Amino acid sequence: MTAGDSADAHPGLGDGEAPGGNPAVPVITIDGPSGTGKGTLAARLAAHLGWHCLDSGALYRVLGLAAGRRGIDLDDEAALAGLAANLGIGFAAGRVLLEGEDLGDLIRTETAGLAASRVAVHPLVRAALLHWQRCQARPPGLVADGRDMGTLVFPRAGLKVFLDASAQERAERRYKQLMGKGLDANLPDLVEAVRQRDARDRDRPVAPLRAAAGAVLVDSTALSANNVFELVLEEVRRVFPDQFHQVAAD
Ligand code: DC
Repeated sequence: MTAGDSADAHPGLGDGEAPGGNPAVPVITIDGPSGTGKGTLAARLAAHLGWHCLDSGALYRVLGLAAGRRGIDLDDEAALAGLAANLGIGFAAGRVLLEGEDLGDLIRTETAGLAASRVAVHPLVRAALLHWQRCQARPPGLVADGRDMGTLVFPRAGLKVFLDASAQERAERRYKQLMGKGLDANLPDLVEAVRQRDARDRDRPVAPLRAAAGAVLVDSTALSANNVFELVLEEVRRVFPDQFHQVAAD
């Protein structure tokens, strides 16, 4: 299940809602640098619990792509914020749509990741996307992954996870992924790209990547995706015992 599960254009700039969205809806946040397996973990947890899933990085990726298509400079904050406020993004059955077009792997390239990281530094862009993200906290629950899910978007989330791994390990995972798809890849270049993106995400003045207060820290460098899932599931059982009993009983 993915955020929205519909191709609704998001409502754009919004404020005035409770920080962290509807407090009655349970939320799990998973933050961390690129390539730690946040997306896989979030999707798996959401499927296990029957909750919605928000891939917030996809928003920034789609925005970067849409900006490129419209010839908007990635440093033009006002134009990007205007675009973000009217972005016809939708999520449906694991697919990411822009104005109804299935973007497939177009937003999963290194170039798209870099463009996402660049548009994400602008405060007006982040403000334009905030309300829509909070609206994804709908019953029965939400698993949200990104950089600022636990710190700014859902500061009241019941469970916050910060997933990390060494830059070398993350670049190697990406390398294997690209080779597996038959694509050209160069490991030293990937390590450098990972480090650059980390630095931009961590050092920006607005919503920098950092672990939220109270977050469970998980270093996945030497762990398999299954190990990480089981470890985090233990935390879910601890924090949301009722939810878990419901799942177990289903
Ligand atoms: O998680 P990802 O690799 O798909 O994210 C792509 C970029 O988007 C990332 O480098 C920084 C930005 N991003 C962000 O600033 N805040 C988020 N909550 C998610 C992603």
